[in-house]
Amino acid sequence: MDTTDLVLAILHHVLVFSLAGIIGAEFVLIRGDMPAATLKRLAGIDRHYGIIAALIIIVGIGRVVWGLKGWEFYVHNWVFWAKMAAFGIVGLLSIVPTVRFISWNRQARANPSFGVPSSELASVKTFIRAEAFVFLLIPVFAAAMARGYGY
Ligand code: HEM
Repeated sequence: MDTTDLVLAILHHVLVFSLAGIIGAEFVLIRGDMPAATLKRLAGIDRHYGIIAALIIIVGIGRVVWGLKGWEFYVHNWVFWAKMAAFGIVGLLSIVPTVRFISWNRQARANPSFGVPSSELASVKTFIRAEAFVFLLIPVFAAAMARGYGY
């Protein structure tokens, strides 16, 4: 039994579920009417997205280096790299929503009658949908890789 591996696995799962929760919250909050309070909440939630994603990278690398299977198991495993690519794509897809949330929040603070332009809202919705879809692929790759597929 290895306590380091157990602690890293627990942290990894908690962080991953937190990120799923954040993507779900953004998905639900992006709706037709977006009052200033919702814009503020979205910007706040999105800040946590960045922090949690950074922690997942740190803990994930920790699992590769100090996990039970040893780093060679992962670096030579294409399913692991597919999982990393999916995570990278989710990160890239999150850039547009993040930039928009900051901008909308800033405009709403400066102008209380600010309304989110419907074209921008629609494009952010599309990005978040795509993000959620690609995110769903990550546990599929994770489960396969953990069982030796791709090695
Ligand atoms: C830099 C990012 C990441 C790295 C380096 C990483 C690395 C790892 C490693 C080394 C394992 C252990 C697999 C094993 O037992 O052999 C693992 C498991 C797992 N990872 Fe990640 N991970 C990352 C991001 C994510 C994300 C974003 C998710 C989101 C769903 C995720 C979901 C999982 C799941 C569900 C498992 C458990 C698989 C199982 O035991 O069936 N990981 N990850």
